[in-house]
Amino acid sequence: MRMYDIIHKKRDGIALSQEEISFVIQGFTNDSIPDYQMAALAMAIFIRGMSPEETAHLTLAMAASGDQIDLSQVKGVKVDKHSTGGVGDTTTLVLLPLVASVGVPVAKMSGRGLGHTGGTIDKLEAIPGFSIERSKEEFIEQVNSKGAALMGQSGSIAPADKKLYALRDVTATVDSIPLISSSIMSKKIAAGADAIVLDVKTGEGAFMKTLEGSFALAEAMVNIGENVGRHTIAVISDMDQPLGYAIGNALEVQEAIDTLRGQGPADLTELCLVLGSYMVVAAGVAGNAMEARAKLHESLESGRALETFKTFLTAQGGDASVVDDATRLPQAAKKIPVTLPRTGFVSHIHAEEVGTGAMLLGAGRETKESEIDLAVGIVLHKKVGDRVEAGEAIATLHVNDEKRVAEVTERLQRAYELSEQKQPNHRLIFGVVTQQGTERFV
Ligand code: URA
Ligand code: CA
Repeated sequence: MRMYDIIHKKRDGIALSQEEISFVIQGFTNDSIPDYQMAALAMAIFIRGMSPEETAHLTLAMAASGDQIDLSQVKGVKVDKHSTGGVGDTTTLVLLPLVASVGVPVAKMSGRGLGHTGGTIDKLEAIPGFSIERSKEEFIEQVNSKGAALMGQSGSIAPADKKLYALRDVTATVDSIPLISSSIMSKKIAAGADAIVLDVKTGEGAFMKTLEGSFALAEAMVNIGENVGRHTIAVISDMDQPLGYAIGNALEVQEAIDTLRGQGPADLTELCLVLGSYMVVAAGVAGNAMEARAKLHESLESGRALETFKTFLTAQGGDASVVDDATRLPQAAKKIPVTLPRTGFVSHIHAEEVGTGAMLLGAGRETKESEIDLAVGIVLHKKVGDRVEAGEAIATLHVNDEKRVAEVTERLQRAYELSEQKQPNHRLIFGVVTQQGTERFV
């Protein structure tokens, strides 16, 4: 087989075989296929697309390019959740203890990565003592005995994807549905999930900016999952404003604790109940989404979800007293309010601007080497539909280093759009894609 012929074939719009796709991924992983040929193929895929069969083959080939985690020693159906990336997305922190509290085994591997804030691990490391250092055996034992465990992602989960993603990033080939869907699903499959619940974000702060694109991405991922025997459900949710109020690491831990106590932001709580319900159903712990939702709701009301979070933190070496005493979390030195010079109703919050603002304050990594400041970030006070008076605080910056304050303030002021009339209620969930088909709520 020659890479030249494979590029030529895809360039002309002819589907690649499973053998050809395996050849490409193996060769690219072991450096026998150079970046320039892989880049040409990525562009051909971007332009020509891939059939569902090709996409499934690509996913499995990338999943097989490194470690494949065997979670068969964990009792029950392992359900993983993945979000295509939003701003201030605290859902994983809430869902992990929430679904564990009703009996869904949570065996979560997570990464750090780049972004507006740190990843789930960085956020939880805001809790004194919290550690992800454990062997695979300890990890599995903890899931079986305590219901939930978190460990760092092995460096060699889907290395082909890691290399290809970096190449796509510099060749304008990121936003291709077969390439995004295979990239995400290859990592979930290699990490050992039996079932996968996806939160596909739509809107300005998301990968897919249009509703059509988001549904198409969701359908592609559900197709892959079902094609390779992993039950997959995708929820399409809004990213036309940040989720919840907090964007920052310790700030989001606090927001997650409030939510587990039943006192969280309405949008974050609702999204967690929806995603959580599908996770509970996928795990076989409830017969349908309504029954699952009732279980989760009861767990929030009774305090069981919060107790499960404490048990989980203790098992990971963390100080569970942060749950009842927020002052034990890292605190920023200064709190600086941001106001607007105008009056009106919030009609839109450019999530990307808010996220970048939090990153500039030090909440996220600009490069792999950047250090995160766990205490800093942004807390919004106004969301879409809220009334704002001129001079009233729309947000508070939590700051340790004042260098970027002026720039971040300006970004936040730009992020808020006001209108004279209150907008109709903002929609949070646009639809659900399952094996049975696509259900649209709009
Ligand atoms: N997230 C991924 O992991 N891969 C993509 O291609 C896009 C988003
Ligand atoms: Ca949030």
